Amino acid sequence: MQPITHIADLRAIAQRKLPRAIFDFIDRGSYDEITMNANRSDLASLRLRQRVMVDVSERSLATNIVGEPATMPIAIAPTGLTGLVRGDGEILAARAAQAVGVPYCLSTMSICSIEDLRAEIKTPFWFQLYVMKDREFSKSLIERAKQAECSALVLTLDLQVRAQQHLDIKNGLGVPPRLTLRNALNVATKPMWALRVLAGKRKSFGNLEGHLAGVENIKQYATWIGGQLDPSLNWRDLEWVRDLWPKKLILKGVLNAEDAKFAANGGADAIIVSNHGGRQLDSASSSIAALPAIVDAVGDRIEVLFDGGVRSGQDVLKALALGAKSCLIGRAFLYGLGAMGEEGVRIALEILRKELDFSMALTGVRDVHDVTRAVLVSPERGLAQN
Ligand code: FNR
Repeated sequence: MQPITHIADLRAIAQRKLPRAIFDFIDRGSYDEITMNANRSDLASLRLRQRVMVDVSERSLATNIVGEPATMPIAIAPTGLTGLVRGDGEILAARAAQAVGVPYCLSTMSICSIEDLRAEIKTPFWFQLYVMKDREFSKSLIERAKQAECSALVLTLDLQVRAQQHLDIKNGLGVPPRLTLRNALNVATKPMWALRVLAGKRKSFGNLEGHLAGVENIKQYATWIGGQLDPSLNWRDLEWVRDLWPKKLILKGVLNAEDAKFAANGGADAIIVSNHGGRQLDSASSSIAALPAIVDAVGDRIEVLFDGGVRSGQDVLKALALGAKSCLIGRAFLYGLGAMGEEGVRIALEILRKELDFSMALTGVRDVHDVTRAVLVSPERGLAQN
């Protein structure tokens, strides 16, 4: 096997190992994928400012993310159905994050449940919540996250309606899911994937199992979830969540300064500047283009985190330069997981660490806390401001 030297290698291996429907589900974006592609191309358009003759023999990447120590400014983003990328995928990814020393966030839509993860992972993890029409159920999820001693609640704000990913529908992953002959034949060519998923603890949405009367299989759950997204969600609901959750509260999916101010005024501890990895509103700004105005508006009041398009340590450095305190990664860890399970996630994180460390050295930065806009060449160039 060729050595794995960057995230694109993990992506290529994942593409070979995963059924087409699963790979497309993680890899692709909504509608015309304009925002998903802009997340990457806007990051790529930024240039780092090389500095030489600075003593960078001692470098430190260690930081705090919402008050928790982390070995570098990176956390693992919540992703649904991760246990279908690899059997028990949530547990494997959380173990890798624990080994590397960065936070892991479990999605509401995970395959392993909050309790499954709690039983397997020693360090506290974060839990991501979708507020559903059934508020009692949402409340019970918050209670379960408390019981499991999750250290932060990540409230995702940008899925009150669900976008379309064209290939998901063609691949039978729409709502409700449907098994196509083409899918079945493709899965038959990936027996290792199938064996691992079948050997996993669960085969459905772990956090929902047993909590919904009359709902039993993954198809019924997916249909239930489809009807549970709540377009009425508004800032008053934040008060409700804030009252139920006394620990760190992170709001995910903020993409402009006005909303960032509402978030700060509503008592959030942090926000994640995010467009859901280009999986929701297509033609929304890229995350990196939206970041500077948000940092200017609330950066001195709450912690601003970032995700969308991060595939390298250089990308992390660029986001830090524009004011993010840390970055979350979605696809970068999923490619690692699909390629090589726990080891693949660890490799993905180590690749990002090495690239960030190297890029800091050649931009003359010794400590991640010292990264400023000065590491960028004309930062505003190329970014369509929000
Ligand atoms: C996601 N994302 C997501 N976000 C969330 O709050 N809850 C969820 O359940 C999911 N599910 C999900 C599944 C998959 C397959 C992907 C790729 C993404 C969005 C995720 O948390 C994050 O915002 C993006 O993945 C960041 O963009 P990159 O790093 O994937 O480019």
